[in-house]
Amino acid sequence: MDIITEPSALGGRAREWARAGRQVGFVPTMGYLHAGHERLMALARERSEVVVASVFVNPTQFGPNEDLDAYPRDLDRDAALARRIGVDVLFAPRPEAMYAPEAATWVEVPALARHLCGASRPTHFRGVCTVVAKLFLLVRPTLAVFGQKDWQQLAIIRRMTADLGFGVEIVGAPIVREADGLALSSRNVRLTPAERAEAAAINQGLALAGELVRGGEGDVGRVLAAVRARYAAEMPSGTVDYLACVDPQTIEPVTTIAGPVLFAAAVQFSGARLIDNRFVDVK
Ligand code: PAF
Repeated sequence: MDIITEPSALGGRAREWARAGRQVGFVPTMGYLHAGHERLMALARERSEVVVASVFVNPTQFGPNEDLDAYPRDLDRDAALARRIGVDVLFAPRPEAMYAPEAATWVEVPALARHLCGASRPTHFRGVCTVVAKLFLLVRPTLAVFGQKDWQQLAIIRRMTADLGFGVEIVGAPIVREADGLALSSRNVRLTPAERAEAAAINQGLALAGELVRGGEGDVGRVLAAVRARYAAEMPSGTVDYLACVDPQTIEPVTTIAGPVLFAAAVQFSGARLIDNRFVDVK
């Protein structure tokens, strides 16, 4: 596995792959890799001739009071994991190599960024879209794999990719969970032991929402109230940033359940904000 830090060097390799007609699978990450990322890379490996992963803690997707400096980093460990999965090129640029001081261009999909994480992190998704667009232009992938834990991000990237005609197949990979149901996240290491024990309730509350809907409850207000009560009882250390039911494609709030919906939650603990979701289709 080659580790490349210069965008121009990666661009050169990508041009060679394109000339040779190679199928390139791409997994963009912010590093501190875990079994969820492993799944994304394994999926890219199965479906591509060349696999590129990136490790870049993208400053433009963090707000002024967010955890950019505290975000966990360990490039040696990430490189060992990526090598083991069969990644061919690991791209790990410095922020200055990705963003010139005079850079003034943003890519955004405001219609899908109004709710959920976009409501509490208003500049987050334009940072995500901008860096993913820049990475797509460098890597020129055939397909790119993203986790469904970041469902809103996945919906936004699908829209951006279609609207800008990148010609990249966007693959969504299922959420990987700990034994107690907590969704894997690089930020989980920042929970205290007591918070870690409580955090399993995030998924349990979303599972309860699914059970209620499958049991015939169609009133979203009543479902969310039951989940909030569960969170208050079982997660006293967490502050619910949002708990919502939205259309899985448009990310617009839903009040009455008449088709597939997405229940999504974000919970702030002392050192980490965690998100999770559950797709529910009553058929
Ligand atoms: O999901 C992430 O880790 C990031 O948002 C991404 C897609 C790598 C962009 O920085």
